[in-house]
Amino acid sequence: MPATVILGAQWGDEGKGKAIDQLSANSTWAVRFQGGNNAGHTVVYGDTTLKLHQIPSGVSALHCSMILGDGMVIDPWVLEEELDRWHKISGERPEGKRLFISERASIILPFHKLYDSADKVVGTTGRGIGPAYRDRIERVGIRFGDIVNIVDDVDYLRNNAERMNRQLNSVGVDSEIEWEKLQKDLRWILERYGDSIKSTGLMIDFALKNGENVLLEGAQGAMLDIDQGTYPFVTSSVTCRANATHGAGIHPGHVEECFGITKAYTTRVGNGPFPSELSLEEGAGMHMAKIGNEFGTTTGRPRRTGWLDIVALKESNRLNGYTGLVLTKLDVLGGLDEIKICIGYEMEGKLLQIMPTTSKELAKCDPIYETHKGFEAMTESEWIEMANESRNNNIGFGALNEDMLNYVRRIEKLAGIPIVSIGVGPDRDASIASVGGPFDISNNKEMF
Ligand code: IMP
Repeated sequence: MPATVILGAQWGDEGKGKAIDQLSANSTWAVRFQGGNNAGHTVVYGDTTLKLHQIPSGVSALHCSMILGDGMVIDPWVLEEELDRWHKISGERPEGKRLFISERASIILPFHKLYDSADKVVGTTGRGIGPAYRDRIERVGIRFGDIVNIVDDVDYLRNNAERMNRQLNSVGVDSEIEWEKLQKDLRWILERYGDSIKSTGLMIDFALKNGENVLLEGAQGAMLDIDQGTYPFVTSSVTCRANATHGAGIHPGHVEECFGITKAYTTRVGNGPFPSELSLEEGAGMHMAKIGNEFGTTTGRPRRTGWLDIVALKESNRLNGYTGLVLTKLDVLGGLDEIKICIGYEMEGKLLQIMPTTSKELAKCDPIYETHKGFEAMTESEWIEMANESRNNNIGFGALNEDMLNYVRRIEKLAGIPIVSIGVGPDRDASIASVGGPFDISNNKEMF
């Protein structure tokens, strides 16, 4: 059976968690393949809503095993907090039983967070992500599988601590890493996670050969990809499809479906160009922020808001070849008189249909919009009622009113990707799936 990839199609925070949650009903493995605790997703378990950063969204599907994959950078202390929170609400301790950490994943150490605190350009989440990947690329970082070999090597630890201190010094961070503390930290990590540290690529490969379904869940979004995003205002990993299998330790031939998740508008946290950005102080931009509760899950920072950008979405599709698009937060646009879609850019008198490569040029782009009629605001329960009507009568998007449907169909046409599911509220039931599509649960009552 195949692997399925789920990716953020914009600048992150698209609402991947719910889509993953829905698909995990039919999967036995949920795998994170890049990033670290810069990501944040919300998982619903019973009546409780849980914010997670590194544990895959599949955690609430108790039949699912979880992998923190090769391509990740992992903060073991944050992971411990997440596992404790999960234990508190579920009574379960999945580590070593159905949650495994790759031997190849890099460890985020206190040094990396200190180093990240010096960032003044990108507006990082400050979680030490970039510095941990930097150490990996420089081939001086420590991976989970390395600990046993180095934890008693005093020369190695001394040299490593000295290197860290030189680097902290060079960016003006006034803190010191002691090799004894480094050793103590590594001992604790080994003790705490020893049973969970595995050759996870082999496990996933075996599961696929055994006929199981594997979900590869992306963090961040395509426009934050280190190679293909709005560099340098990007994260430090390859967030796109090409890395989903590589970062999990399997080959790309396993993937049959790749779903892109996009909001019905756009948000971005941190710095960097955003052509369709609106003001957070007034009008539609303020409406999106307020109604959509647009604050970062990880840092609590207000997200910047703007209209849906088709140029960026097409770029994202070029990189990922989406087999379906999940449109989230359509409900948030309710109550706006008109809704715009950015269909191109104007840069210094030139019309562009594709994103320029550099952020400097992208910052000079003005959006070209087409305007659509808005639709009325509805309450959360009215949206759920609409979603139930769609499910119960098996009418898919036929439950939407004409103005909503026109907007959805126009996005499909402009982006050239079929929309397979539409999110209309935070509730698990507040989704409308296309009839017969991968999110159509009419024949799968176990899904909710
Ligand atoms: P870093 O990943 O912490 O290095 O941050 C680099 C850039 O990516 C910053 O603009 C962050 O705000 C952004 N970023 C990182 N993770 C996420 C995410 O999960 N959602 C949205 N933006 C993110």
